[in-house]
Amino acid sequence: MTELSTIYKLSLVTFICFIKACSSSSSCPVLECWFVQEKTGRGGGLTGATSQEKSLLHIRTDAHSHTAKSQQAPSDINPDRVYSITDPAATLCHLSLNPPRGSVEKPQCEINPFSPQPSDLKWVAPLTDSGLSPIYLEADWFSTSLQGLNKQVAISTIMRAPTATKEHNVILSVTSNTVSVQSRLGEPVLLDCGFWVDSSSPLSGSGFAVEWRYQFRGDGRLVLAYDGKTDRLADAKEKGATLDFEGLHEKGNASLILQEAEVRHSGMYICSVYLPHIVAQVTLELEVVEPPSVSIYPSPLPLAVQGQTLTAQCEASGFAPLSLELSWEFQGIDGKSRPLGSGSVTGHRQAWDGTYSQSSQLELDTTKLDLGRGGEVICVAVHLGGKRQASVTLNVIGFSTPSIEDSMGMVGVALVLYGLIKFVSWTFTSSGSDVAGQQEKLVKDQKLRGFKMVMF
Ligand SMILES: *[C@@H]1O[C@H](CO)[C@@H](O)[C@H](O)[C@H]1NC(C)=O
Repeated sequence: MTELSTIYKLSLVTFICFIKACSSSSSCPVLECWFVQEKTGRGGGLTGATSQEKSLLHIRTDAHSHTAKSQQAPSDINPDRVYSITDPAATLCHLSLNPPRGSVEKPQCEINPFSPQPSDLKWVAPLTDSGLSPIYLEADWFSTSLQGLNKQVAISTIMRAPTATKEHNVILSVTSNTVSVQSRLGEPVLLDCGFWVDSSSPLSGSGFAVEWRYQFRGDGRLVLAYDGKTDRLADAKEKGATLDFEGLHEKGNASLILQEAEVRHSGMYICSVYLPHIVAQVTLELEVVEPPSVSIYPSPLPLAVQGQTLTAQCEASGFAPLSLELSWEFQGIDGKSRPLGSGSVTGHRQAWDGTYSQSSQLELDTTKLDLGRGGEVICVAVHLGGKRQASVTLNVIGFSTPSIEDSMGMVGVALVLYGLIKFVSWTFTSSGSDVAGQQEKLVKDQKLRGFKMVMF
């Protein structure tokens, strides 16, 4: 009986070890990271230059579990830059931060020294009302920012280690699962951002603030700011932008909701989460992509006569972003398509809603382009949002002005007729002058008729 219980205990221990191994060391990565800090100059001041060193972060979810420390740190990494990080929320154990061994692509990771300080921002200041800095802040603080493979996730954390221990704990992490978002015009957009706070930290429980900023080519604006301590939104809120306040307070869901995507919404968004004295932020990109509507004028095309040149205009409108390729094609009655070039493309115009339009004019020379009896004239617009096209039917009718062969034939007929008349008149003139007078009249009539025939 005792033997059985020993076996039972042993297997239970093995099982627990196995579970632990799975949950901590195997799914949480050892991250290669750049340790970046500002260089201090000779006088002790900052020179503005930065230094960059390779570092290694061993991640675990539980301070008591052992990380795979036995793994030898690569020789090019300074042992002082090898850190142990405890991340109870397992944010840093995201799959996209743990690529298969030997994979060429690596997640991006940077770690920097961080100094906690109160913020003057109106929506953050209430968090540090008392003006006191807890002793808790006197420690080694670091911030990390990471991006997973294929932009699957962006994570930023603030970590604290009791001075000179190198045993860091994640205190605040901010995560986005929508690093790069595309949206059609007019659709609702969700820019994901969530945060986690270590509830055992003295910084938790005294409120938080969330700020969303927009940044595009040096142009920045505040989209929304929320003071979670006093439950107040900043006045400078953008129209149609909101948060899920319930989700924010209950689950740290700080996602920004834009009710209707507009062209001017395209750009970078920074989600910042503030706790008293500390802040972490992630950056997301939104691109509003709308393919063009394409039409051809005039439609239908007028009937073309062989040899004539028609002008067709293709108008692509309502698209964003700006880049567009316009081209023309011709599909004959036999069903075969061939390119007709890009025509003469005009500059773009921008509409009130920020979308662009552009047009191309095509000269359809029915003889030079060898269009036969006609077919479909197609305008193709290639855009990031997809390929769009429009077509019109071209009908080319035969001749109205006579061809060279026809003219030659008519001249021939006239000559023969003229000869015939000459002959007849000569015969009659020689037979009698009286009759000749009448005959002459007849010949004149015939000549006239002959002319008429030529005319036809
Ligand atoms: C966050 O809130 C938004 C809006 O309510 C919701 O669509 C999204 O699924 C939430 N995200 C999480 C992780 O709960």
